Amino acid sequence: MKVLAINSSPRGGGQSKTEMMLTPLVEGMRDAGAEVDVVNLREKKIKNCIGCFTCWTKTPGECVHKDDMTNELFPRWLESDLAVYASPLYHYTMNAEMKAFVERTLPILEPFFEKFDNRTVHPLRQDPPAAVVLSVAGFIEMSVFDQFKSYVNFLFGRHMRLWAEIYRPAAETLSNIKDKKEEVLAATFYAGRELVDSKQISTNTLDRIQQPIIDFNTFAKLGNLFWKTCIAEGVTPKEFREKKLVPRPDSLESFMLLLPYGLNSKAAGERKVHLQFNFSGEVLGSCYFLIENGKIGVKEGRTKNPEIIIETPFETWMDIMTGKADGQQMFMEQKYRVEGDLELMIRLFESKTDDN
Ligand SMILES: Cc1cc2nc3c(=O)[nH]c(=O)nc-3n(C[C@H](O)[C@H](O)[C@H](O)COP(=O)(O)O)c2cc1C
Repeated sequence: MKVLAINSSPRGGGQSKTEMMLTPLVEGMRDAGAEVDVVNLREKKIKNCIGCFTCWTKTPGECVHKDDMTNELFPRWLESDLAVYASPLYHYTMNAEMKAFVERTLPILEPFFEKFDNRTVHPLRQDPPAAVVLSVAGFIEMSVFDQFKSYVNFLFGRHMRLWAEIYRPAAETLSNIKDKKEEVLAATFYAGRELVDSKQISTNTLDRIQQPIIDFNTFAKLGNLFWKTCIAEGVTPKEFREKKLVPRPDSLESFMLLLPYGLNSKAAGERKVHLQFNFSGEVLGSCYFLIENGKIGVKEGRTKNPEIIIETPFETWMDIMTGKADGQQMFMEQKYRVEGDLELMIRLFESKTDDN
């Protein structure tokens, strides 16, 4: 099976969540024996359709533009058995790069009118490849894809056989939750194999790919802190990631939500570790984290006999957490106090090796 996988995300450098999902899908397809070519539209020159209908009249089947679409992509697309349309969700539908690609497939149609399924359509000049659609979105609800879904079903429903649709909401969030990301990407790999073997993706696999990963309240709290930090630091999300910044908690609640993402839970090994924080200064209050078997639980208040107690002004710890202050230096200057297993504490706060 010959597959053309078309990625329309404008983001390169490992930032694209469309690419994050497309890569295992392609690997799964290759694993099942398909010959897959991946095309990044951001590297191609595709002019917009100008509506001249030269491809329907003077040069039937051939576009008037002489660019990468005419010279390379359109012929490659026609030769394929299957095209994977992978687009980020922009304003509730495919992005402009993918739309430009779709519009430029006009030469495959003849100008005439006929009826199919009680609606007007144009006859096909040639058979187009079957279609698989993949999209990722920032928001968490599946319903965010409703318009996209309706559009691609209309578009590919008759002319092309739409084998499957893969929608991954909360894709940006997913990329930061290591365990869930691994689960979803493994299921996406499996979907690639299923597509080649059976021209469809099973409900079970789709459910694993599209599983909910976060509730709205947590999503909004984390997301809002992230954007507030970007604005305060004057950085784009890409720069935020490159500088290894973390969102700055502004309350006990947001601290409790965020700290687990920066804790190296593996440092606790087989032990059950209680890490107690007692805050003074801007935010008063206490909370503790229970680290056990690689998992981290959190509760407000104080626990009995914690292995580590950190007594600190809230703002001092937030400066350390966001890299504005050096933890070791602050400790030497007695800006905060630690009781208990200091060595373990240092290991817990050592940066995680996962680059996402
Ligand atoms: C112009 C623009 C419009 C967007 N519109 C939506 C949207 O309607 N719904 C949504 O959930 N996310 C939306 N997003 C978020 C993207 O879908 C999300 O960041 C996705 O990960 C981008 O894909 P990429 O990482 O492959 O580039 C939008 C992003 C941009 C830049």
